[in-house]
Amino acid sequence: MNRQQIVDAMQSIVGVSAIASVSEDMAPHLIDWRKRHTGIAACIVFPRNTDHVAKVLAYCNDHAIKVFPQGGNTSTCGGSVPDEEGNSIVLNLAKMNRIIDLNAGDNSITVEAGCILADIQAAADQVDRLFPLSLGAEGSCQIGGNLSTNAGGSNVVRFGNTRDLVLGVEVVLPDGRIWNGIRTLRKNNSGYDLKNLFVGAEGTLGIVTAASLKLFPRPRARATAMLGFARIDAAVDEGLKLQARFPGELVALELISKSEFDISLRHAAQTRNPFQATPNWIVLVELAATTDTSEVWTDRLTDYLRDAFEKGVVGEAIAATTEQQRADLWKIRHSVTESNVRQGMGITHDIAVPTYRIPDFIDQAGKTLAEHFPEAEPVVVGHMGDGNLHYIAMFSHAYWGSLADKRKTQLALSHLLYDIAAAMGGTFSAEHGIGSLHVPEMSIYKDPVELDLMQSIKTLLDPRDTMNPGRVLPRS
Ligand code: FAD
Ligand code: LAC
Ligand code: ZN
Repeated sequence: MNRQQIVDAMQSIVGVSAIASVSEDMAPHLIDWRKRHTGIAACIVFPRNTDHVAKVLAYCNDHAIKVFPQGGNTSTCGGSVPDEEGNSIVLNLAKMNRIIDLNAGDNSITVEAGCILADIQAAADQVDRLFPLSLGAEGSCQIGGNLSTNAGGSNVVRFGNTRDLVLGVEVVLPDGRIWNGIRTLRKNNSGYDLKNLFVGAEGTLGIVTAASLKLFPRPRARATAMLGFARIDAAVDEGLKLQARFPGELVALELISKSEFDISLRHAAQTRNPFQATPNWIVLVELAATTDTSEVWTDRLTDYLRDAFEKGVVGEAIAATTEQQRADLWKIRHSVTESNVRQGMGITHDIAVPTYRIPDFIDQAGKTLAEHFPEAEPVVVGHMGDGNLHYIAMFSHAYWGSLADKRKTQLALSHLLYDIAAAMGGTFSAEHGIGSLHVPEMSIYKDPVELDLMQSIKTLLDPRDTMNPGRVLPRS
């Protein structure tokens, strides 16, 4: 089919006003936020309900038109923009953003896939509940995107990844059939757990159109502190001790290197260095509780830390005593990604290793980088409590020039680091997914039997390979 025929067909399903087909309206949907991945499509389709999605997918399946699902387009790995071939559609869920049901008694919320994550958090808050998924992109990412990437974020150490927060899903399959798996049950062992097939599938098996999610009691008290360490092994050691000391309350345990801290302070507006002298390693710790007050929990945290401070393990420690101070500390943490883009050309690695191996990984990765790419500065930020590091080799814009020209060099660099993680039982993709960027690593690092099973599932559900082709799985 040619481009105009595709546009006409889509218009007849969703209506003229739910299509973008002129270049300036399409442009933001054809490039990722870091401007590293671009693509072409016949049009952007904005369905308003599940029936629209079903009809669009059935049509595309019948006519072999490729469908590139898109949420908030915050993917870090080229998962949310189409390929370069052109006669395809981008299916963006933004107009499906209703809260379908909010049930505090049942501790559940059911939403359409296009709901912005921050809106779900706010809705839960209004009924005195917490939806704990939290990440820097929460103001623009959609829950359908979060489910599809099985996003992690800052509270995984206490509440798990997105997968752990999902009770049920509604999915439109590539042939247009609708599976209504919306349930709020906590137990349901009636056969295979199919919802988990779609969580983390990155749109390759169908479109998530709605989800029911777990809510938790809203914390009444928080204690937030930044701790400075001279050595990474002391930072990890202390983090593990904090986890053991506050198992029910520790909701965040984040790690930031001095290099990353400096970058965030340099580029993010309204940030201020809370330390007198920036330490080599900074741990951001947060406790949340439904009992007592923030003052009481802050005292408990600082009392506990006093011992480590007196032994010289922890250097300077900054505890937030007001909500504004807490927000200021988090602002530094959540500004890292956008600040890194301003700083230079960062080659990012989203690795995970067992938490206790973090010092080893940082040591080996640092030596490898110094040997092979001395021009790069190691910049580290991560979810320490989950063993997940965003290990960034930061080059100047001038050194790197065009990334496309240097793709081979980038792969060589990345594989050196992935090999280190793999040797420690780690992974090359902890929370951001595969997208188009990490497809080559799937063939290298995944178990061949596992990869074969994945290919079989894809072929079973999407035999015509119309759903997000070229993403996640290598072409067989
Ligand atoms: P998109 O980026 O639009 O899409 C992501 C993938 O899901 C694509 O493959 C797309 O095709 C597919 N998809 C989207 N919607 C659907 C749907 N309804 N049905 C089927 N497939 C769909 N990630 C983390 O895990 N932890 C973090 O801490 C974190 N922090 C971030 C901070 C910033 C500043 C940014 C920019 C990104 C961050 N991310 C983080 C990346 C993260 O993956 C995304 O923010 C988010 O989960 C993706 O949601 P999205 O709606 O933007 O999806
Ligand atoms: C973060 C994103 C990049 O942790 O995952 O900031
Ligand atoms: Zn992260």
